[in-house]
Amino acid sequence: MENTENLKTEIVTAIKNASDIKTLEEIRVSVLGKKGKITELMKGLGALSVEEKKEMGKTLNILKSEVEAALEAQKKVLEAQELNRKLAAETIDVTLPIRPENQGRIHPVSKIYEEVVAIFGEMGFEVAEGPDIEDQFHNFNALNMPANHPARQMQDTFYIPNPDSDDFDDSYVVRTHTSPVQIRTMEAKRPPIRVIAPGRTYRSDYDATHTPMFHQVEGLVIDKNITMAHLKGCLYDFVKAFFELDEIPVRYRPSYFPFTEPSAEMDIGCKKTKTELKIGAGTDWLEILGCGMVHPRVLEAGGIDPNEYQGFAFGVGIDRLAMLKYGIPDLRTFFESDVRWLKHYGFLPLDESSMTGGLSNNGGMAR
Ligand code: PHE
Repeated sequence: MENTENLKTEIVTAIKNASDIKTLEEIRVSVLGKKGKITELMKGLGALSVEEKKEMGKTLNILKSEVEAALEAQKKVLEAQELNRKLAAETIDVTLPIRPENQGRIHPVSKIYEEVVAIFGEMGFEVAEGPDIEDQFHNFNALNMPANHPARQMQDTFYIPNPDSDDFDDSYVVRTHTSPVQIRTMEAKRPPIRVIAPGRTYRSDYDATHTPMFHQVEGLVIDKNITMAHLKGCLYDFVKAFFELDEIPVRYRPSYFPFTEPSAEMDIGCKKTKTELKIGAGTDWLEILGCGMVHPRVLEAGGIDPNEYQGFAFGVGIDRLAMLKYGIPDLRTFFESDVRWLKHYGFLPLDESSMTGGLSNNGGMAR
């Protein structure tokens, strides 16, 4: 039988000289494979005497594990080399300009948000904010919806337990509308108030036009001598600017919200066909938002004297505006994070919305 020491040196040297994984694998097969050198030697053990077999078996087992260890070690070395080579070859210069086809897209909701802020910003409105997790005082009570008020059932509310209280009235909610920001604004500043409050809202609802999380923008104006005419003028200018039309028929239908009196819903003119919805001319109407004069009790809850001040408020669904303006049929797709959808309906990041530079840039979605 061959001298195993020489064999070992020969194999280990070959392993250490292997310069790639393929060569290493060939060595492994030639040594430990079915017809490999060590495998053959092991097969030869049967012909030996019991004593020799014991001795040689032990030697071959040691040799085998040494070879395996050498293979493993060299594999690690080669893999590390391969990784370094790849890293060196595939470095990315983050200071280079991006390729146009790889540009990210602005989500339609973000786009509408920017458009709405641009329009009302131009009219002198500030942007106000409130928390997504609200207490029932701000989401309901202060908005003239005391506990057990039937209007609370109008909104399918998600309640959040209050860790400090077992009383259901103390539980929190994820805000069902942006109207609580009206109260928070009144608490924080004195009139004249002119704010919009865009943000997330939540209701337990799910179909093609409802998702459990959606977006609204609230508007609130409070000053002395504010009338319904101000509301109408303001919202008329808004829809014209938003839909980028010189003329647009509008009408107000009487409605009910606990926090406004009188309350109305605003419709805009449109033409509906089986396949198309054209905003503007036409004999059909499309409901677009809820509005009204701020209820005296709401002013009081916000610490403002209703005998001295009046105001108007409105609430618009941002997602709904996006569906209408950009012809997106299913709201659920907004929140599925499908990059193909975003590439189709999204906007190029540098196309900023402004009243002077263009709002949607000719309704020009990134193709
Ligand atoms: N908060 C109302 C809703 O979510 C909309 C609204 C806001 C109506 C302000 C009137 C005034 O439906």
